[in-house]
Amino acid sequence: MTDISKTIVVLGATGQQGGSVAAALRADGWRVRAVVRDPSGRRARSLSASGVETVRGDLGDPESLRAAFADAHGVFSVQPNSGQAGADVTNEDEVRFGTAVADIAERCGVAHLVYSSAVTAGSTTGVDHLDTKGRVEAHLRNLDIASTIIRPAAFMELLVTREMGLDRGHLSFLMRPDQAMQFIAVRDIGRIVAAVFGSPESYAGRTMEIAGDALTGNALAEHLTRAAGRPISYGRLSTILPTQDEVVSEVVSKLEALVDDGRLVGNANLGALRAEFPFLLRFDRWLAGPGGNLLDEALRSTDSGIGPG
Ligand SMILES: NC(=O)c1ccc[n+]([C@@H]2O[C@H](COP(=O)([O-])OP(=O)(O)OC[C@H]3O[C@@H](n4cnc5c(N)ncnc54)[C@H](OP(=O)(O)O)[C@@H]3O)[C@@H](O)[C@H]2O)c1
Repeated sequence: MTDISKTIVVLGATGQQGGSVAAALRADGWRVRAVVRDPSGRRARSLSASGVETVRGDLGDPESLRAAFADAHGVFSVQPNSGQAGADVTNEDEVRFGTAVADIAERCGVAHLVYSSAVTAGSTTGVDHLDTKGRVEAHLRNLDIASTIIRPAAFMELLVTREMGLDRGHLSFLMRPDQAMQFIAVRDIGRIVAAVFGSPESYAGRTMEIAGDALTGNALAEHLTRAAGRPISYGRLSTILPTQDEVVSEVVSKLEALVDDGRLVGNANLGALRAEFPFLLRFDRWLAGPGGNLLDEALRSTDSGIGPG
């Protein structure tokens, strides 16, 4: 039986995935240690208040990782990516961070490493900021450490951001209106990772695509319209981008090509996953639950931006 009195180290715990993993592990009774860059920051203090031990560290500082991993049973590994808004890392940083975490976990005798990758990691896509994760996966598989690789589908959270247009009553994303793509709630990434650490005998050595729902653009618009109580239409991102931004247009057209050839849509077996993880949220349930506040925020920006004044 798994001994949950042992410590799991969580990287990125002040962020989306790590925050979800830390919360789910705590809910299952594990001791959780978060490696944070600023222990006095708001998110780190809120982790401490929830019973998570916070230690100062940095993915670029191997010594801090060695100290954090020294007596740990498990490590959850996630790295920032250059494609994210506001990220201050290069693609080489991401690969260096991801491989260092795995190397140090192996040398520290960590029993189980869970690495969060991406659905595109099974092939080289030619999009540099996506191909980083395949490189980390390849390195990890050559090490002498029990590991599980999860490949999360697109986050539901991505859909309810201003950048995707909800503040203008319109959602834009990568697929055509009639094309389906898989999505997962960030909350469920944490719950799956907690289940993985809880049953290493079932999950060590596995690479798992994970998702909670599959929806076309039109279906997303219907769910959002119902949840928002006002019409939300859907269009493909490339059809609404400002044409002058050539760099963004080029990345978007590459990503849409990966959707069209099936590599970015997510190919998880939803039926099997829902049987294995019955808590997985479909998009409508997510909107009615953890996504509700995010949707409200995205819609409120319409009210404050172009409301009567
Ligand atoms: N499938 C999808 O739809 C999707 C969507 C978004 C992201 N992703 C992937 O998810 C990964 C990022 O995960 P996320 O979205 O959970 O992250 P996030 O919310 O952006 O947070 C990033 C986390 O990394 C920490 N961090 C950044 N640089 C660090 C460093 N040098 N040392 C230690 N910690 C550092 C941040 O800590 P601070 O608080 O100190 O900044 C924060 O906790 C990326 O690899 C990205 O490709 C996938």
